[in-house]
Amino acid sequence: MNTATVNDGERRGKTGKVSPEPALWGLVGNTPLIPLDASPVFPRPSPSLFLKALFILRDGIARGELPDKRLLDASSGNTAIAYAMLGAAAGIGVTVCVPRNASAERQALLDAYGAEVVLTDPLEGSDGAIREARRLAARRPDRFWYADQYNHPANPRAHYVTTAEELWRQTGGRITHLVAGLGTTGTLMGTGRRLTELNARIEVVAVQPDGPFHGLEGLKHLDTAIVPGIYDPALVDWTEFVATEDAEDAVRRLARETGVFAGWSTGAALVAAERILTARDRPRPAATALVVVIAPDSGARYLSEYRRLREEDAS
Ligand SMILES: Cc1ncc(COP(=O)(O)O)c(C=O)c1O
Repeated sequence: MNTATVNDGERRGKTGKVSPEPALWGLVGNTPLIPLDASPVFPRPSPSLFLKALFILRDGIARGELPDKRLLDASSGNTAIAYAMLGAAAGIGVTVCVPRNASAERQALLDAYGAEVVLTDPLEGSDGAIREARRLAARRPDRFWYADQYNHPANPRAHYVTTAEELWRQTGGRITHLVAGLGTTGTLMGTGRRLTELNARIEVVAVQPDGPFHGLEGLKHLDTAIVPGIYDPALVDWTEFVATEDAEDAVRRLARETGVFAGWSTGAALVAAERILTARDRPRPAATALVVVIAPDSGARYLSEYRRLREEDAS
């Protein structure tokens, strides 16, 4: 594992010369919460992946690897977009390995930001992308700095120092449950670790797909996948396993009932939050329960998939 040194607001290259960060980088973070009925609240989609990418980019610069080399990583697509956007602002080349079944919107955004994209076998899921990134990194260490978000401590650290503090502040310290899907696991690890330091009674709930073959882009079924090095199961109070169809259904209901259009993995986390609040198999939480659901991306990144589902429903 790497040890990250993160310096705020400045970039120091190999030469020791300091240059200011692009203004765009300064806009990442401080995402507002959207209150929903029956006490779950959730952040407006998209915060967490930009935070993670920002902290990892800063580490690559602090090590003197970037911008001389290209940042290389595997991603289900969203962190790849965050790297590509933030990298474009700073003149950092980005190469990402992404499963070929990543939504058309994700692939179009990567193209728009000028990232080099290596598409991998969709049947191998996110693990296929990881294996390809490892292969490229081993073959061309002169060309690539392999960020390895699945093992990089800057990933959970970004959430430890930002997401958790924001949620604590935004809920006035009243958060009782944190619910987030597991991909690299960085969001749940970093946010959960800090929140439980602030209040040991906060419950940390992980969300996973209910099987190895699923449509929840960004999420991993850990029993059948490469387990990220940053994952610490001791931090998780319990895991909810959610079917893709239930997550899609939650996304549709949320859009119609609240005007918030989120991505599928957020739908899965909402299903988990509903289970917590209706607690069939565990003590029902107090009426004052305040469940926070992390929303890593917007439904706009799934519009083509959404259309396909609607057509399937209609036929
Ligand atoms: C849509 C979506 N949901 C959930 C996650 C999981 O977040 P994490 O990697 O912090 O576990 C990701 C990660 O990229 C994602 O893209």
